[in-house]
Amino acid sequence: MSSTFIYLLLFLPLLITAEKCNKYDKRALLSIKAAFNNPYLLASWTSSSACCEWYGIQCDPGVPGNSDGSRVTSLFISTDSNVTGTIPPAIGDLPFLTTLGFHKFPNVTGNIPYSITRLTRLTFLFLTWNSLSGPIPSFLSQIPSLTDIYLAFNKFSGSIPPELAKLPFIQIFDFSRNRLTGSIPAEFGNFNKSYPPDLVLNHNSLSGDLPVSLGVPEWGKIDLSRNNFTGDASFLFGVGKSTRYIDLSRNEFAFDLSRVTFPVNLTILDLNHNKITGSIPAQINQLVDSPYFPVFNVSYNRLCGEIPAGPITATFGVDSYFHNKCLCGSPLPPCTSKQI
Ligand SMILES: *[C@@H]1O[C@H](CO)[C@@H](O)[C@H](O)[C@H]1NC(C)=O
Ligand SMILES: *[C@@H]1O[C@H](CO)[C@@H](O)[C@H](O)[C@H]1NC(C)=O
Ligand SMILES: *[C@@H]1O[C@H](CO)[C@@H](O)[C@H](O)[C@H]1NC(C)=O
Ligand SMILES: *[C@@H]1O[C@H](CO)[C@@H](O)[C@H](O)[C@H]1NC(C)=O
Ligand SMILES: *[C@@H]1O[C@H](CO)[C@@H](O)[C@H](O)[C@H]1NC(C)=O
Ligand SMILES: *[C@@H]1O[C@H](CO)[C@@H](O)[C@H](O)[C@H]1NC(C)=O
Repeated sequence: MSSTFIYLLLFLPLLITAEKCNKYDKRALLSIKAAFNNPYLLASWTSSSACCEWYGIQCDPGVPGNSDGSRVTSLFISTDSNVTGTIPPAIGDLPFLTTLGFHKFPNVTGNIPYSITRLTRLTFLFLTWNSLSGPIPSFLSQIPSLTDIYLAFNKFSGSIPPELAKLPFIQIFDFSRNRLTGSIPAEFGNFNKSYPPDLVLNHNSLSGDLPVSLGVPEWGKIDLSRNNFTGDASFLFGVGKSTRYIDLSRNEFAFDLSRVTFPVNLTILDLNHNKITGSIPAQINQLVDSPYFPVFNVSYNRLCGEIPAGPITATFGVDSYFHNKCLCGSPLPPCTSKQI
């Protein structure tokens, strides 16, 4: 063996791992750094170093097409008020990205650029706790690989784009803590019935009646808390559904709870502060996971009748039941003959 060959054998792998960085990815990242006004957070992002080694960057060789590990597959940076400006179009120039996260940049404003639709491998999108505004872009529906979209704690306004119902692999929409208005699109009833995404929409200004089509998918988790929804939500329930988590608290929902059957695997049910009438169905105490039921709250509604005795209802104190019209029985005061 020649000494050159031995040299290569010994040192080439080291050189490759130390030098990895596709030049076009590096150029895009340096352009993003400049758009964010060269914050100290990105001090490791220099033209003389390999971008796969930079803060917030990963180049996972397991991503198809990236077996040499030179392409940027994850960009996740967070928590700095010196990161300022808007998300630049250069974000679309990182074609191997599967994860994109900008988290807790209170001085990052503006909307999501259209160029993001060029990220055809993107699965996780985390743009949380920033100051992003404008509508949630309907063009996110043009990235079919997306599974998780987290846009919580921003200033997004306008209504939820119906086009998002087209995302074939979506597992969660978390749009909580924004300024969204309107209702939920009727198209959201078209998700895969057995595997719809979790819907986390709490703390917005959503309003109006829910489309009845939302009764079709078996939501794993549906959190509509602290909005202005009105009318019926009874179709979200049903003993045969796989739903685990229903939070409708602090809205204006008005329906008869007596007509509802609870999904057998439900463990979180928060209905506080609505205009719900009727009584609590006894079936609440026959749920599969009854020993583990962390939240049950029907306070501040217009319920009547005796609280059905059983393992779940007995776990909770007065503050899960108080401020109703004529609900009675343990842990509230005993029912009088007039109340039953
Ligand atoms: C933000 O910028 C200011 C002024 O340049 C600097 O003093 C401070 O250390 C920076 N903070 C961080 C977290 O980089
Ligand atoms: C970030 O925003 C805060 C609050 O709006 C402001 O006080 C601060 O000066 C901004 N920081 C930078 C570096 O722009
Ligand atoms: C729903 O999703 C499951 C699991 O991903 C899949 O097996 C099934 O084919 C899907 N159904 C429809 C109608 O797309
Ligand atoms: C609900 O509507 C009322 C009256 O229209 C309004 O004052 C309130 O701010 C709204 N709440 C939310 C969370 O949007
Ligand atoms: C409830 O959970 C069990 C255990 O995870 C599961 O086998 C069952 O299919 C679930 N029931 C429904 C209706 O989803
Ligand atoms: C139920 O909700 C009411 C109203 O928000 C609250 O005061 C009470 O503490 C809650 N109880 C439980 C057990 O969560």
